[in-house]
Amino acid sequence: DMPLKYLANQINLGIGAALETAHLQDPLFKQTLIREFSQITPENEMKFMYLQPEQNRFDFSKGDQLVDFAVENDMTVKGHALVWHIQNPQWLEEGEWSKQELKDILENHIKTVVGHYRGKIAYWDVVNEAFDDNGLFRDTLWYRTLGEEYIEMAFRWAHEADPDALLHYNDYSTEGMNTKSNAVYRHLKTLIEKGVPIHGVGTQLHLTGDHPVNDARIARNIERLSELGLDIHFTEIDVRIRDSNDDSDLQDQAQRYERLTQLAAYYPEVDLITTWGVSDKYSWIPSWFKGYGRALMFDESYQPKPAYHAVQNVL
Ligand code: XIL
Repeated sequence: DMPLKYLANQINLGIGAALETAHLQDPLFKQTLIREFSQITPENEMKFMYLQPEQNRFDFSKGDQLVDFAVENDMTVKGHALVWHIQNPQWLEEGEWSKQELKDILENHIKTVVGHYRGKIAYWDVVNEAFDDNGLFRDTLWYRTLGEEYIEMAFRWAHEADPDALLHYNDYSTEGMNTKSNAVYRHLKTLIEKGVPIHGVGTQLHLTGDHPVNDARIARNIERLSELGLDIHFTEIDVRIRDSNDDSDLQDQAQRYERLTQLAAYYPEVDLITTWGVSDKYSWIPSWFKGYGRALMFDESYQPKPAYHAVQNVL
């Protein structure tokens, strides 16, 4: 059987996985990752709290390990995430910042980080999860003090620090047509019209095994975003299954993976799909969604599941 990365490459599609440096100590994890995937996203280790644990003290050790690993294995890296409302360091959360101070903090963070990885990181999630499900700007530490402008500033600073990096907006529940994806679409359109450097948009796709994947609505959303000239990534795919359910659910899960892969294969604007982990052995699902698990394409012993074969058949 042909590994996924070769099949995907034939249609100019990158296929990736999220990981942590610690996972690379597990030989089967490493082997499976190298065999099947062409891209990595740091699951946590490039978030603000890890990169700048104290004000103006940057720690690139873990991030660098991941980038070195990618270079050795001919993989691309998507940096994740420069601006987010959680996993920020305590000093940042607890400080009382004036508008100018917070602006300086954000500019310094983005320029230092993106500058450090200049030429080594192909894509950045510049802003993550800035909208609420009701389509309003999410009330975050950035929004409260800087207003909606923080989004535009973040993209401009990232672009200054690495003019070749492809800059993305990333969010969840935005794959189809709904209030939130409408808000994202309208805001990105406004930014593009203003000349803000933004190259793509990621939709996370943390789904459940019985979640309806409405192909037609996802297709419409992909089409309107690509009309703006944006590339589209499926960034954090996993399809969680209730612990109590039996193996028949693996078939439903496979079907969801299959549909997403069909969409990615059909639209050239979708040029990267990433699963949020490699195997069910390490996944954020059991601790964040109690009673759920088994969300990825490989089981805990790195055996390919029906979802893997479904993706392979499409590619
Ligand atoms: C998650 C990680 O997987 C967990 O290990 C961590 O504890 C919390 O964050 N949306 C995102 C990701 O953009 O960064 C999140 O990752 C999952 C939801």
